[in-house]
Amino acid sequence: MEFPFDLAPVLGPERFCVVDQHLRPAGRGGGGGAEREQQLEQRLRTVIDELGKASAKAQGLSTPVTSAARMESNRHVLYMLRDTRPPRGAVLGFLKVGYKKLFLLDQDGSHVEVEPLCVLDFYVHESQQRRGLGRELFREMLQRERMAPQRLAVDRPSPKLLGFLDKHFGLCRPIPQVNNFVIFEGFFSTRTGGF
Ligand code: ACO
Repeated sequence: MEFPFDLAPVLGPERFCVVDQHLRPAGRGGGGGAEREQQLEQRLRTVIDELGKASAKAQGLSTPVTSAARMESNRHVLYMLRDTRPPRGAVLGFLKVGYKKLFLLDQDGSHVEVEPLCVLDFYVHESQQRRGLGRELFREMLQRERMAPQRLAVDRPSPKLLGFLDKHFGLCRPIPQVNNFVIFEGFFSTRTGGF
């Protein structure tokens, strides 16, 4: 996804750009004065809003799950994957995660209150899907969050995401839930790290 401005000053120089509620990418340089800062933040808002809209469209949702305003009011983390080639670069996709308190059913059907890391929104540009970019984004997130894939809860996964999780992480046996979240075998295991 391309934008009518150079993405490097907005998102920083790296292939991965990580943004939280402060909307200030780690690699973004300072300097240039308050006006320049304001312009960069406005551009970052545009990038996040447009990505959110594209993801919603791809999933057939009427309202985007991801926007700059939503990022500011939640403690979510947005991982963006970029093509850094000049002149302007492009955003190839994004993955949004965050911790949420959930009541989940374990294998015995008992309610358990947990606060897992949740996959909230995930999108790779239509022209770039099925090239391994989704896996690259997901692996980067797991590494930075120090998380095992089976410890994640997934909010309303699309059929494509279910196929993706099965293919790359062997997550194929969901534990049925009454809410929209999906968890997989191994979620409640005490042998792996997590919440
Ligand atoms: N149809 C079926 N499965 C697909 C498709 C597709 N069109 N695209 C990707 N997949 C799954 C398959 O398992 C595929 O393996 P295969 O090609 O051998 O069948 C695997 O993903 C490919 O892995 P990657 O190339 O690493 O994944 P990709 O870069 O395509 O990203 C993603 C996966 C993010 C799900 C992407 O397909 C996408 O943006 N889809 C549209 C939006 C969407 O459904 N997002 C998830 C919403 S639910 C949520 O966010 C909680």
